[in-house]
Amino acid sequence: MKRVFLLVNALLALVVIVGGSMLWLRHNQAVAQVDQAWANTTVQPLGDIGSTRSLTILPLIERNTEPGLSGEPGVSYLVTTDSATILFDVGYNADGSAPLRRNMDALDVGLESVDALVISHLHLDHVGGWQPMIQHTFNLGGEPVDLADMPIYTPVDMTYPGSTPTTASQPTVIAPGVATSGSIAFPELFPIVLFGDPNYEQSLLIQVEGYGIVAISGCGHPTLQKILTRADALFEQPVVGIVGGLHYPNSDGKDIQPNIAYLEGYNPQIVGLSPHDSSPAAIQAFRNAFPDVYRDVAVGQAITFGA
Ligand SMILES: [Fe+2]
Repeated sequence: MKRVFLLVNALLALVVIVGGSMLWLRHNQAVAQVDQAWANTTVQPLGDIGSTRSLTILPLIERNTEPGLSGEPGVSYLVTTDSATILFDVGYNADGSAPLRRNMDALDVGLESVDALVISHLHLDHVGGWQPMIQHTFNLGGEPVDLADMPIYTPVDMTYPGSTPTTASQPTVIAPGVATSGSIAFPELFPIVLFGDPNYEQSLLIQVEGYGIVAISGCGHPTLQKILTRADALFEQPVVGIVGGLHYPNSDGKDIQPNIAYLEGYNPQIVGLSPHDSSPAAIQAFRNAFPDVYRDVAVGQAITFGA
């Protein structure tokens, strides 16, 4: 009996060691692929794509909320410029109760006012849940909505019933002064189905007249440095800020000081860290570093910039 017990334990240990090593190898392979993809990617400056005088970012889904609205660890932001309204991600819908639709109703945001939809990346907290993620689609929750007339920009190939989303691998101008960053690779850490293969994320880049470029990020998996480096490559105007996720979920605030120092190099005029993938310590560190320009990111609290 004792011998059987020892044998089972030895087998289990072997499975753990071999399985762990395989995952570690796959992850390292993905890191190498991501590094190579970044080194091999060149983008052309966008030239004059216009600008907006005003920029408003209204979180429709976030972890933190104004009273009376629904929060969850996901992202959906309504981005409004002088000439366009863009829905950036569609939240998590973690409990299936369609919090995005509920918050839209409460905030009087109608889909008819949205000119374009941009998905930052194919993760469940940005595409409306696990099921849409594994099916490479997205879902706003609640009753299905017809988006046939709405341009949709995704970072990888995705589908939506009745629509043909554009895979915006390359930076793409979607409105005056508004462009996608193009897909930037990152090593996938999501377990089970995707672990090991690189994934791709895009940000929104918005040229604000009289200021410069504001980046809007979903999770920020590619890293702050790559997002801002991409913005530098695409625009003549300087980057003046970033709002959204930068993926510091377990940060103690000290480990991200090099990133804060990097952002300080841009002398930003607007900074807001998404609570959906940032620890309270990370948010406090950013708030401390940029006290005059820091913005809270919470459902129902509009962040305005520019004129
Ligand atoms: Fe996220």
